[in-house]
Amino acid sequence: MATIEMKNIVKKYGDGFPAVNDVSIDVADGEFMILVGPSGCGKSTLLRMIVGLEDITSGDMLIDGERVNDLAPRDRNLSMVFQNYALYPHLTVYENIAFPLRLAKRSNKEIDEKVREASRTLDLDEHLERKPGQLSGGQRQRVAMGRAIVRDAKAFLFDEPLSNLDAKLRGQMRTEISRLQKRLGITTVYVTHDQTEAMTLGDRVAVMKRGELQQLASPRELYEQPANLFVAGFIGSPPMNFLPATVEGGEITLPFGTFPLPADKADRTAGKGLLMAGIRPEYFEDAAVQADVDESRTFTAHIDVREWLGDQQYAYVPYDAEPRVQDQLRQLAREADSDSLRTQLVVSLDSASQISEDDEARLVIDTDKIHLFDPASGENLTVGL
Ligand SMILES: Nc1ncnc2c1ncn2[C@@H]1O[C@H](COP(=O)(O)OP(=O)(O)OP(=O)(O)O)[C@@H](O)[C@H]1O
Ligand SMILES: [Mg+2]
Repeated sequence: MATIEMKNIVKKYGDGFPAVNDVSIDVADGEFMILVGPSGCGKSTLLRMIVGLEDITSGDMLIDGERVNDLAPRDRNLSMVFQNYALYPHLTVYENIAFPLRLAKRSNKEIDEKVREASRTLDLDEHLERKPGQLSGGQRQRVAMGRAIVRDAKAFLFDEPLSNLDAKLRGQMRTEISRLQKRLGITTVYVTHDQTEAMTLGDRVAVMKRGELQQLASPRELYEQPANLFVAGFIGSPPMNFLPATVEGGEITLPFGTFPLPADKADRTAGKGLLMAGIRPEYFEDAAVQADVDESRTFTAHIDVREWLGDQQYAYVPYDAEPRVQDQLRQLAREADSDSLRTQLVVSLDSASQISEDDEARLVIDTDKIHLFDPASGENLTVGL
């Protein structure tokens, strides 16, 4: 087991483009660290620099305190599972798992013990004599994991290992990886752009954008205290709503009304002009299903579309924003790889709500939970409040 320290890591490819730009991340011994971000943000590049498949342009990579920048991959003793894991089609599952041990010239006895232990852990006992071509996608994925875990590596590195699987299998494998990592207690760095994986698997999550680290925090902190607009918009589904806002005299004015704002948030943002308010869908509710409605926080909205999902429902409320605000919202959506044009509000309603499409509904907004961002820098001005 090992700690992994990345200190001011920079990677410039041949054309000088900084794929990874001054990233520092400490992974504790036994920790499950997630690297997440939109396509092209440098996740795979960073992972490949940890294993040694990519040269480091500048900065220090330390494994267990030892600088490994110039060590060959095999001397770093890390185990990596790729998105397109290649199993040997002519070898049995047993031999596929045993492969790295055969390469390392281990004894037959040791190989047999390790393969059988991995196979028990991954529930592959009945498939050991079969060939990869006869297995399902999830089973093949488990064989690839087996090959990674027999190695007694110092750490596991995963690059989107589940992205080729269908949604159900991905859910199952996610739970299995989580269990396995906890049981083995082995340091793990896991790359994904699936935010459910990021939020459920990680002890901590590093959010990246265009080669730069945006925030490194626990899943809960990312969700509840996003450092900036990018993280706020990237984490959460459906995404956080962003609305133009101004704060004055302890009140916040949004496109659909003026509401009281908690004093600490008002103090930090008063007189700052036009801000971007971040409001998650669940900070809204249908006033009709809430007890003790605070009238000062209600407003009437025209419900455009409603999606009923059984245990909850979403309603969409279009609103008008000036072109400058619309441009910024589009830019945000592009950066986060999302295609939504966000001049509509998405609100999450209790499943008991009887609101229907084309209704003029009365909604309540929980202004205690609103985040306020500086629209120019993107910084969350209300972090910690
Ligand atoms: N061999 C290479 N030569 C030049 N540029 C590269 C090379 N590999 C990657 N890049 C560039 O570096 C940036 C980061 O790429 P990387 O593969 O690390 O992204 P990623 O976050 O893993 O994306 P994805 O989610 O699509 O896998 C991209 O802009 C990419 O174009
Ligand atoms: Mg990648």
